Amino acid sequence: MKEIDWDKLGFDAYRTRTVIVSHFKDGKWSPIEKTETFSFTFDPFAQVFHYAISCFEGLKAFTQKDGRKVMFRPDENAARLQRTARYLGLPVPTKEMFIEMCKECVLNNLEFLPPYGHQASMYIRPLLVGMHPQMQLVPYPEAIFAVMCAPVGSYYGEHLRSFAGVIPGNYDRAAPKGSGSYKIGANYASTFEPYKIAHEQGYTELLYLNSQTREYIDEFGSSNFFAIEGNKYITPLSDSVLPSITNKSLQQVAKDFGMEVEKRKIPVGELSEFEEAAACGTAVVITPMSHIDIKPVLEEPEVSASYRFFDDGEVGPACQKLYKQITGIQFGELPDAHGWCYEI
Ligand code: PLP
Ligand code: COI
Repeated sequence: MKEIDWDKLGFDAYRTRTVIVSHFKDGKWSPIEKTETFSFTFDPFAQVFHYAISCFEGLKAFTQKDGRKVMFRPDENAARLQRTARYLGLPVPTKEMFIEMCKECVLNNLEFLPPYGHQASMYIRPLLVGMHPQMQLVPYPEAIFAVMCAPVGSYYGEHLRSFAGVIPGNYDRAAPKGSGSYKIGANYASTFEPYKIAHEQGYTELLYLNSQTREYIDEFGSSNFFAIEGNKYITPLSDSVLPSITNKSLQQVAKDFGMEVEKRKIPVGELSEFEEAAACGTAVVITPMSHIDIKPVLEEPEVSASYRFFDDGEVGPACQKLYKQITGIQFGELPDAHGWCYEI
């Protein structure tokens, strides 16, 4: 194995050793298999290729300060995958199976689990895809459920640093009453083009508005949105955003700090009133925004409004405090008062 520089990890599809797999066919899940080939066999007519019948999860495992190995809230990811699987008409893995396969994935790739002290973790990626060969638009309970993992550091290349975000006026992430709250691959497919354009213009993140009226903040392409105003933690109430486990945890942490938590519609103009605004999620942890621009047409130079919170790179006190608390719990540096760390 090539030596890994734990301090220099980004967020890449690092090829570890073992992928954990189960197939659902003829009404049942196969016994869990461990494969080191890193390849699957699919029928060219498989649902996943034609109709994007594919969903996934993302959670992290950590080596804690005292050497314990834990996963962060895997029961929550299991429940979310179950909800998404039902939406796609795919077979639904049990919670026990989900957690067991994630655990096996970490245990069978232990040499890739970053040791404590490098701000690095193991990103676990459970993937559920429709395998049934077909042309018709009907669900069919045949799938592969695979859990893979990769050692990761920072999603954006630097921990706790602020970046620029942009609201693309001519792109939506999710249709009203559509699939936005489910973790399906197709939701991400529609972000690739605007991300490419935004990155070329120096923006790191895309912030989407509700697509029906374009009045309210929904979420980032990769993560949820929250803002700080005085002693308030404010986050969007929308049925088109992914119910983020990080956001749910941060809301609890904010309450534990004595902050007021507001989950409500956030008119986009309210950005001018916030002291801090940030992205949150498993991959991005907490990534504050230095500023957010609104561009009526992403490809055009016009910026119709610009909201600045900080100089580029600078991070506000609330984000620093929340980040320290959540990562402190994950790395076992602070008490896990809510029992979020699941020992492997
Ligand atoms: N929103 C989107 C679109 C995401 O892809 C993610 C990442 O999983 C999140 C929010 C954050 O969810 P979580 O905190 O459960 O990782
Ligand atoms: C996660 O945070 O787990 C995600 O799935 C986001 C993805 C863009 C990496």
